[in-house]
Amino acid sequence: MMKLMMDFVGVTEAAALALVPWIGRGKKNEADGVATAAMREKLNQMEMDAVIVIGEGELDEAPMLYIGEKLGTGTGPELDIAVDPLEGTNLIMKGQGNSISVIASARKGCLLHAPDMYLEKLAVGPKAAGKIDIEAPLYDNMKVVAAANGKSVSDLTIMVQDRERHNKIIQEIQNAGARVQLFSDGDVSYTIAPAIESTGIDMLIGIGGAPEAVVSAVALKCLGGEIQGRLLPSNQQEYDRCIQMGIAEPSKPLRMEQFIRTDECIFAATGITEGLFLHGIRMIGNERVVTHSMVTYGGAKKIHFIESVHERLLVG
Ligand code: FBP
Repeated sequence: MMKLMMDFVGVTEAAALALVPWIGRGKKNEADGVATAAMREKLNQMEMDAVIVIGEGELDEAPMLYIGEKLGTGTGPELDIAVDPLEGTNLIMKGQGNSISVIASARKGCLLHAPDMYLEKLAVGPKAAGKIDIEAPLYDNMKVVAAANGKSVSDLTIMVQDRERHNKIIQEIQNAGARVQLFSDGDVSYTIAPAIESTGIDMLIGIGGAPEAVVSAVALKCLGGEIQGRLLPSNQQEYDRCIQMGIAEPSKPLRMEQFIRTDECIFAATGITEGLFLHGIRMIGNERVVTHSMVTYGGAKKIHFIESVHERLLVG
């Protein structure tokens, strides 16, 4: 287990290191390309028989880390893998904070095969886990989270992605007297944040990518938090895609046990630019580079933070 965890940290570190030359350069595709290639190379060296469940897209859209791609040496544990080599492409492009490289894995057959479309999300930390309900009014969920976290509603800090589609939610939170904290991109960090007490964040709500929700669900499973979601297919094609991927009733809420059905799971992430709970990559002179990563596993309820020093050679 420890070896697998450290190997996954090596995978996200490699993707993050490959991105150093691309921070703040305005090149989205190039950045995504190098991170994906670096991650794939490392994954293929690992002793496992793994398959990508959440990746860069379907085979016809993505040559690497596509859904269904087999990874690893073919011996060792059989795993489902969800990756986001570069979570926050806009952030990297603009040299802004909070971009990370992430990977989540679980025993074969235990991760939701989420289609690439929007999903309504509600995420909380361990104290409020088991108490929220995405079908209930937002204010009811706020009251439940406040009580669980030992606060009043006006003391809540709620993360919402800064998008027009969230104007109504933002209004509702503010009308209730709670604090909204808007973020521009990269909702995986902010979905996990309520399960990391030091962030002071109580909840995330809003609409973001469904693949990102699966990756976040694994982290929340490890840390004892919770995410609930509802897919939002925007047309018949997206609706059919849900059915094809095994989601028989796409409008039904997705709960933790749909996102991730086992405790045998691992989540690892490495900071690229300075973030909420992960530092960005730092250079020491011209020769060395420092990365900051986190790793956690099913039921651990704790995070291991890892600082690694790499020879600059690795980043080319
Ligand atoms: P990418 O890294 O793929 O660009 O995703 C960034 C992100 O902010 C996600 O974290 C979030 O789920 C999604 O985009 C929201 O999508 P949109 O930018 O369309 O609102």
